[in-house]
Amino acid sequence: MADMEHMEHVAGMENSSAAEGGVSCVSLTAPDSSAPIRKFDLTAARTTLKLDNGKAVEAWTFNGSSPGPELRVKEGDRVVVTLHNKDIEDGVTIHWHGIEVPCSQDGIAGVTQDTVPPGGEFTYTFIAPAPGTYWYHSHQMSSIQVGKGLLGAMIVEPKEGSESDTTTSETTALYQQLGSSMLVNGSTQGLAVPGRPGDIVRLRLINSGNETMEFHVDGAPFRVVAMDGHDLHEPGQLADTMVPIGAGQRYDLLIQVPATGKVVVGSPSAKSLPITIGSGSEPHHSEGGQPFSFVDYGTPSPNDPIPQVQPDRHFDLELGQTLFVKSINGKAFGEIPPMIVKEGDHVSITVSNVGGGDHPFHVHGHVFRVLSKNRVALRGSPVYLDTLLTKKGETYELYLEADNPGLWMVHCHNLKHASMGMSMMLNYE
Ligand code: C2O
Ligand code: CU
Repeated sequence: MADMEHMEHVAGMENSSAAEGGVSCVSLTAPDSSAPIRKFDLTAARTTLKLDNGKAVEAWTFNGSSPGPELRVKEGDRVVVTLHNKDIEDGVTIHWHGIEVPCSQDGIAGVTQDTVPPGGEFTYTFIAPAPGTYWYHSHQMSSIQVGKGLLGAMIVEPKEGSESDTTTSETTALYQQLGSSMLVNGSTQGLAVPGRPGDIVRLRLINSGNETMEFHVDGAPFRVVAMDGHDLHEPGQLADTMVPIGAGQRYDLLIQVPATGKVVVGSPSAKSLPITIGSGSEPHHSEGGQPFSFVDYGTPSPNDPIPQVQPDRHFDLELGQTLFVKSINGKAFGEIPPMIVKEGDHVSITVSNVGGGDHPFHVHGHVFRVLSKNRVALRGSPVYLDTLLTKKGETYELYLEADNPGLWMVHCHNLKHASMGMSMMLNYE
């Protein structure tokens, strides 16, 4: 059975199934612009991290920590990040998860660039997209390197002067599995967020692990205001129940601190890692409420009608398990024919989860719109994602515009599944 190391190696050596589209990725770079330049340096290195529970872990870090530094930029900035590899023997790359970068900047070892060897460096340049919550991680032997700690948050803020926000404060909560420890923002103890009654706190939840995390908010109603960095228009009903966040996904919640002064956000899969907002008395445990689902997002924005165009291309993908392989249409990476599109195509993709666990379906270089779930059209605000959580038995219809030429990976963001075969390419002809 092939593993991720092997497959990324193969993809690099042969470049065959990857490069068949005929587009050369290397020449596709960020356009020139006079936008403000934001420069960062990220150095990947082997580090012994002392966790706040006293444990020491052998981790791979960016700038000495895991998660690496949170990169904050503004919409439209020209982002320039130089990756240095101090001593990660297998090499390192950086993938900008959820950001529609030019293909050459996508960080796919063996496909869009060579892996950066110890002592080497590579500079990524791209334009910061719409404001939102994104993240970055190594895409060389991802399953291993993300698990070792090579990841961090990337937040794109609105341009100067365009804030219309009512939030009092905001906090990123990046969950990760590091060795046997579950961490939030690098801590094993949970997160304490300051807040006073009446404050509105924006919580940016990032699930960088391999398992779905179901979050509950106790003590206050909340609203999901963005998914995968994309605002939900008119989010509608306040929800007070559960939010399932698939591996790789981000949810932004808006929470108003109640009179009791305390809200607890937690997940059964991260029991010891609650996020506590405010310092008042114990929150009263909210009961009932409507189950959270895609269809609760309120009314559609009039500017965003459901695409009616006949798609130029359609693909059917079944995510499942075949013997020991996590498969797409019964095949594993290398045997799965790429989806071939042409620039300008309207593309529809039907994704079904036929078993083998939750499969968070991730597309590089593109944002897709979720049109329907189990053949029922989504009502309410349009939902745009880069990673879609699918559970067994579910079918989704997705729509994307082929507007970013290149060679792109499409894979399950349970990176163990990806390494077991659930990966393929989306290539431009
Ligand atoms: Cu965040 Cu190819 O992945
Ligand atoms: Cu999967």
